Order: sequence, then C-alpha cells, then structure tokens
Amino acid sequence: MSHPQPTLLEWGSKLQIQSIGLRYEVLRKPLDLFFFPEELLSETTQIHVGMVAGERVLAVLLLKILDRNVAKMRQVAVAESCQGKGLGKQLVRFSEEICRDKQVKRIELHARKSAVNFYLSLGYRIQGHEFEEVGIPHIAMYLDL
Ligand SMILES: CC(C)(COP(=O)(O)OP(=O)(O)OC[C@H]1O[C@@H](n2cnc3c(N)ncnc32)[C@H](O)[C@@H]1OP(=O)(O)O)[C@@H](O)C(=O)NCCC(=O)NCCS
Repeated sequence: MSHPQPTLLEWGSKLQIQSIGLRYEVLRKPLDLFFFPEELLSETTQIHVGMVAGERVLAVLLLKILDRNVAKMRQVAVAESCQGKGLGKQLVRFSEEICRDKQVKRIELHARKSAVNFYLSLGYRIQGHEFEEVGIPHIAMYLDL
C-alpha cells in the first residue's frame, strides 16, 4: 500500500463517498446508529479531509467553519486496523494548517471521552463539563491557533 497522505476530499467525489462508509463503520455502527440523508447533504459546505493511500480512505474528519473565526472539528475517524499508527495525529495537524490558512483562530470539538487523551496529546484543552451526545459521554475541547 502506498504511503497515506493528507488529502482534501471534494464533496460528492468517490473518495468523499467512501469516507462516509468509514465514518459509519467507526463512529455510528458501534452505537447502532445510521446517517440520515439530510445530515449528509448538510455537509456540502464543510471541509472534508482524509488520509488516503492509493484509492483507500484510511482516516477522515470534517471542518465546519463557524462565525467568530472558529471552526468545529467533527467526525474524526481512523479505520480500526490503522489506529494507533499516527494517522489521526497527521490528519488533525493537516486540518489545523487548513484552518490557519483560512484565518481561523480557534478549533472547537466535542471529544468522545475515550478520545480525550488523544486530543490532549495534541495540545487541545478541555472546556467545561462532560455531557452526553449520541448516547455516550463527551467533553468540549478547543485549540487556539
Ligand atoms: C481517536 C482516534 C481518532 C485517534 O487516531 P489514531 O490514529 O488512532 O491516533 P494516533 O496514532 O495518531 O495517536 C496520536 C497520539 O495520541 C495517542 N492516542 C491515540 N488514541 C488515544 C486514545 N484513545 N487515548 C489516549 N491516547 C491516544 C497516541 O498514543 C499518540 O501519542 P504519541 O504522539 O505520544 O505517540 C482514532 O483512534 C479513532 O478513530 N478512534 C475511534 C473513533 C473516535 O473515537 N473518534 C474520535 C471521536 S471524538
């Protein structure tokens, strides 16, 4: 397999559609949840970023630019067989560069509790208390760029 590279996934492209499958496998299926078509259609204006090797999307995340120079990072997923190999870190770092280029000053996210230490290791900070989303505990986190 060729070396995974961070890549922008154009909405509606083959790779972006493949990335929905990855998000489903990693983030939704374990919780017995699905995607709704309107949810996926609402993502046309979000930035889709992947780690891609050949024709395979191994990791994905979305950036939603909010107002106040803030971006929300969401749907961060690394294929199960590829976790713990640095792909998530590379993907997040690449996405931070995209945000800097767009004059974004802060990245916010809702971290699953199980992933909080991943974001802490990348310099993200905890903002507030634990809350529930998609039925599991989350913590709001942010990084000032
Ligand atoms: C959480 C996730 C995105 C991390 O991506 P990854 O590719 O597995 O992580 P990396 O290999 O890039 O790890 C980067 C660093 O974070 C640490 N790390 C990764 N996952 C961690 C975890 N769950 N808990 C603690 N530390 C973690 C690694 O040890 C590594 O530290 P190092 O740089 O000191 O070696 C990925 O494991 C995943 O998709 N998990 C399932 C879905 C999920 O929880 N998504 C996040 C939703 S908010």
